[in-house]
Amino acid sequence: MAAASAPAPKPSGAVVVERINAQDVPAVCGLYKKVWEAEQTGLPAPLVKSWQPTPLEFTSWMEGVTYFAARKDGRVVGAIGCALEDGSVHLVHLVVDPEVRRQRIASALIAAAIDWAKRANAPEVWTDVLARFSAATALFRHLGFDQCGLLRKHQWNEDVQLFERIL
Ligand SMILES: CC(C)(COP(=O)(O)OP(=O)(O)OC[C@H]1O[C@@H](n2cnc3c(N)ncnc32)[C@H](O)[C@@H]1OP(=O)(O)O)[C@@H](O)C(=O)NCCC(=O)NCCS
Repeated sequence: MAAASAPAPKPSGAVVVERINAQDVPAVCGLYKKVWEAEQTGLPAPLVKSWQPTPLEFTSWMEGVTYFAARKDGRVVGAIGCALEDGSVHLVHLVVDPEVRRQRIASALIAAAIDWAKRANAPEVWTDVLARFSAATALFRHLGFDQCGLLRKHQWNEDVQLFERIL
C-alpha cells in the first residue's frame, strides 16, 4: 500500500493566514508589543497600553472575537480580529510587523476577515482608525472601504475615522 503523502511544504517566504489558536497567544502578544512600541511616539499612553495585551488579556479578547494571524516562514507577522456586532463585522486590532510592511500582509488579513464576514452573512464590515494613522487610512481606501464618519476627540482625545465596506 502506498504511504500517505506528506502535505506539500509551503514555499519559503509565503504568507499564510489562519485562525489564531491558544498556542499562538504568546507570539501574537509579542507582535502587539513590538508594533505599538515602535508606533507610540506622541500617542496617548493609555491607548498604547490598551493595545499591548498580556497573554491573559488577549485570551479574554478572544472570547467573542475571531482572530486571524499571518505567518511568514513560521513566524507570526500580522493579526486582525473580527467582532460580530449587531449583525455586522467590526475589524479590530489590525497590526503588521514593521519588518514586513508593504508586502500585502494586511491586505491578506483583511481578505480573510471579509471571507469570514461573508460566511457569517454579514452585509458589511467596518473599522475605526485613528485619524493620524495615515498608513491604515491609505490601506482601507486602497481596499475599497468608504470613509463614512469621523468621531472627534473620541479615543483619549484622538480623532477617529470610520470606514465601511458593503459586502
Ligand atoms: C496599516 C498596516 C496594518 C498596513 O500593513 P501592510 O501589510 O504594510 O499593508 P499592505 O502591504 O497590505 O498595503 C496594501 C496597500 O495599502 C496602502 N498602504 C499601506 N501602507 C501604506 C503606507 N505606509 N503609506 C501609503 N500607503 C500605504 C498601499 O496602497 C498598499 O499597496 P502598495 O504597497 O502596492 O502601494 C501597517 O502599516 C501597521 O501595522 N501599522 C501600524 C498599526 C496600525 O496602524 N494598525 C491599524 C489600526 S486600525
